Amino acid sequence: MSDHDLAIRGGLVATAFGAVRCDIGIKDGRIATIAETIEGARRVIDAGGLYVLPGGVDSHCHIEEASPAGHTGPDGKPAVTVMEESFESASASAFAGGTTSVVCFIPQWKGFGIWDRYQDARRRGERGMLDFAFHQIISDPTDAVLRDEVPRVVAEGVRSLKVFLTYEPLHLGDADYIKVLVAARQHGCLVTVHCENYDAIGWRTKALLAAGMTAPTYHAWSRPRVVEREATHRAIALAEFVDQPIQIFHVSCAEAAEEIARAQARGVKVWGETCPQYITLTAADMARTNPRDGGFEGAKFMCSPAPRDTAEHARIWEMIRRGTLDVVSSDHCGFSFEGPRGKAAQGRDASFEKIPNGIPGLAARLPILFSEGVSKGRIGLEEFVRLTSTNPAKLMGLYPRKGAILPGGDADVVLWDPAKKVTITNALMQHAIDYTPYEGLEVTGWPVTTIRRGEVVMRDGAVQAAPGTGRFLPRGPYDMVKPRGIAPDGFGVP
Ligand code: URP
Ligand code: ZN
Ligand code: ZN
Repeated sequence: MSDHDLAIRGGLVATAFGAVRCDIGIKDGRIATIAETIEGARRVIDAGGLYVLPGGVDSHCHIEEASPAGHTGPDGKPAVTVMEESFESASASAFAGGTTSVVCFIPQWKGFGIWDRYQDARRRGERGMLDFAFHQIISDPTDAVLRDEVPRVVAEGVRSLKVFLTYEPLHLGDADYIKVLVAARQHGCLVTVHCENYDAIGWRTKALLAAGMTAPTYHAWSRPRVVEREATHRAIALAEFVDQPIQIFHVSCAEAAEEIARAQARGVKVWGETCPQYITLTAADMARTNPRDGGFEGAKFMCSPAPRDTAEHARIWEMIRRGTLDVVSSDHCGFSFEGPRGKAAQGRDASFEKIPNGIPGLAARLPILFSEGVSKGRIGLEEFVRLTSTNPAKLMGLYPRKGAILPGGDADVVLWDPAKKVTITNALMQHAIDYTPYEGLEVTGWPVTTIRRGEVVMRDGAVQAAPGTGRFLPRGPYDMVKPRGIAPDGFGVP
């Protein structure tokens, strides 16, 4: 009898060294052995006809973020309102879609510090089932926050600071953005950036509303590609100015990706992420007026940057193929259609700027990318694994614990049926949100079993994991985010 708790036998395994038909042996929640055959494990799963992939790593998910409700609670502290998607519901959704780890966000409220928020987010995360790490949002970079609190959260294992260049009240101007870049450089963090021009969007929004152009479809008009390109250029230029590595989040169009490609060609440490919505949804979806949704269906597709058009989808694929965009995350940010904080909370005739931005996509991410990518011949299996698991794990400092089937790594494994045809429905997503923007989308390729640290947590859609079993993933210093040591004029940044 071998010493393995579990052997997965006979599948095509996407190892860190390429796809090979072999067995894998798991012991104490970790990959112990990759071998031609493994006999006599305590438990065996037959993966004949299936792909055996590392669990998905989704490095951009908004889960159970707390924000101030705008009044004081009975304890005299600011009352809190929390996103509908809890760590527990998000875990079920992640496992249903083959994802086993996420990097999500600790909010910062204007006028407040980040340490309390970190502790709150950590408590929330520990109630879930999936493994999680954090980006720290910085929306109020006071000297006290940057000097005293950022080092505290970094010491806890938070290794990325997230900034928004748009959105009220989160956006940072250039001076504050530079302060965050410099703090990240001092403390060995990546900076992740939402790139859209706040003032340009504000100006355009005012003009659209004055012209009576208020429907959800005008969300796309309020933030055309040029505002994303401009902010992407600026985010990169200022990062280059102080020699700080950054990742550009949710790139929706080639003209923004080209800014990244140009900087990469200069050797700047900048990476680009895109999301399934930018290869499937279009601005025309925001013009949908299904009477069942009171003519307001378009709100279900509203996210920022806005989905573009099918020609842009092809350009995004090209940027993925070239390697300019090397991570595909979900940007899961669910607001139900109905409900007190939902898309229609301000009424079905609300103007677009009052509708919350964001769409759910945690469970749909891998099936959509596999189907649109591998099944349709745009990318190979190994590229799929790099985009959805290995690259995000590396860029977030989680590799090789996560992101690969490799001896010593956590045994996070997905058994994937490459031939299974599924029509996406909201029920299949298993999230807390009352709709999916991908309803009716037909995909080829589907996760049939998800294993987290050696434990089967999803089989044929049935999620079986105990709340409270998700683990926080502290991140230490790592090479990818080391500055290059090259600054304009050689003028040293402290
Ligand atoms: O519309 C989006 N993407 N909402 C989520 C927040 C963000 O911008 O990442
Ligand atoms: Zn964003
Ligand atoms: Zn986001």
